[in-house]
Amino acid sequence: MSEPYDLIIIGGGPGGYNCAIRAGQLGLRTAIVEKSPTLGGTCLNVGCIPSKALLNASEKFEGASRHYAEYGIEAAGVKLNLGKMMAKKDEAVSGLTKGVEFLMKKNKVDYLKGMGRIVSAGQVEITTPDGSKALHATRNIVIATGSESAGLPGIEVDEERVVSNVGALRLSKVPGRMVVIGAGVIGLELGSVWRRLGAEVTVVEYLDRVTPSADVEVSRQFQRILAKQGMIFELGMKVLAVEKLKSKLKITVEPAQGGEKKMLEADIVLLAIGRRPFTAGLGLEAVGIRTDARGFVLTEHLRTNIPGIWAIGDCTHGPMLAHKAEDEGANLAQIIAGKWGHVNYDVIPNVIYTHPEMASVGKTEEELKNAGIAYKTGKFPFTANSRARANQDTDGFVKILADAKTDRILGCHMIGAGVGEMIGEICVAMEFGASSEDVARTCHAHPTMSEALRQAAMGVEGWTMQM
Ligand code: FAD
Ligand code: NAI
Repeated sequence: MSEPYDLIIIGGGPGGYNCAIRAGQLGLRTAIVEKSPTLGGTCLNVGCIPSKALLNASEKFEGASRHYAEYGIEAAGVKLNLGKMMAKKDEAVSGLTKGVEFLMKKNKVDYLKGMGRIVSAGQVEITTPDGSKALHATRNIVIATGSESAGLPGIEVDEERVVSNVGALRLSKVPGRMVVIGAGVIGLELGSVWRRLGAEVTVVEYLDRVTPSADVEVSRQFQRILAKQGMIFELGMKVLAVEKLKSKLKITVEPAQGGEKKMLEADIVLLAIGRRPFTAGLGLEAVGIRTDARGFVLTEHLRTNIPGIWAIGDCTHGPMLAHKAEDEGANLAQIIAGKWGHVNYDVIPNVIYTHPEMASVGKTEEELKNAGIAYKTGKFPFTANSRARANQDTDGFVKILADAKTDRILGCHMIGAGVGEMIGEICVAMEFGASSEDVARTCHAHPTMSEALRQAAMGVEGWTMQM
């Protein structure tokens, strides 16, 4: 065995590769292990990036074929070239995964290709794609193995007709009808892609509203907007079976509380009911690393119960988001290097990249009520925002929640065009412990969508000016 590494990171997703970059910057001897052919994990290969590439392209297609005429742009004969759209998406993915590989080299991180297994605290075995094995010594092991799509008993995902995110991002033709199981983030983003490209999309959701963990007011309006766009919702319904017939899929659904069964038909079923931690073949049991009942690696400040073994990203607790994994990765490198490292889980934004977008950070109204925290609300609709009106893109609103006594911002929830970019302002404000008044008194450029944030902040103290 060669000289021990300071850390070996198992998993090359946003958690793992950001941990590696920061560790390299701090002069730690670092290796990253990845079993897939490319670095970047779920996010770059089959998640954030390909889905955003298709969301962007499909929005342009829908705009050109259905909406540009409203702006006086009459484009005749708009045609979809799905092959080209997919190729552009693949180009974005491969450019970025190569970029991550370059960053490993730049930061002197060894990229070890293969499947990593923890033999003991201090030893990682790697099985390379050709089947050979190598043992590496290390002072620290970082588990960054991510997550995979959760299944439903009795429903076989073949990635051709019954697909997870993996198959849904590479369909070779636009389905006539698509049934999406789960009205969460994946279901609504990828459902939007295929609806815009021409599919009739029906979303079956177990609970009584879309994006059930979002602020209720936001999620209700979001659902109305998506329905107006043509998405069909079957809420409060559970899927009992998906039968694969030669020419179509038959989906049996039933009200979640019991009742009369109903049949749906589709060419493609997308299963998107959440994700589960991926730790298969990692050797957790052999080393005695504790997990919870659902398989998430248990940690305290990123430490597992075994000294020298850490866990970050989707395989451990917290929101399953790339930027959460990234923050944990970079901060863990700092901790291992003997520096400070802290993730503020109260300020992790959430964005759904549909059109309009949904963005939030901090507590929802329901969470504040349940916690018995007195709060004040400021709201502003985009119908009253000059930029939204100039763009003729006025769906949605901004809502700011602030502590009733101190005025400190506790949460922000928005629907609207591009609000995913606007949420960063509130994240910074919250990190600085800002009050709603701080935002209300900050000059914002005119005409911008972000003026709606300022007006909503003014509304907390009742002095919204432009409504
Ligand atoms: P992953 O990205 O899953 O990476 C883990 C890596 O570890 C994988 O490459 C895997 O092959 C490797 N691995 C596992 N076990 C081993 C082993 N034993 N040996 C070697 N390698 C191993 N999040 C956002 O913030 N914004 C978005 O817009 C967004 N969009 C998404 C869209 C979709 C369709 C999906 C599915 C997810 C999306 N996410 C998004 C979530 C985001 O992708 C994840 O939160 C993020 O990738 C988690 O990073 P990670 O590093 O923890 O794990
Ligand atoms: P999700 O947790 O967002 O949504 C799953 C939905 O399925 C929920 O509404 C749930 O009530 C419903 N559901 C669960 N069981 C069901 C059943 N049997 N029948 C019908 N409905 C059922 O999970 P999703 O969409 O799979 O995404 C997984 C994770 O990936 C997200 O939670 C998010 O962390 C991440 N992601 C983030 C994105 C972003 O940041 N823009 C984009 C896509 C994914």
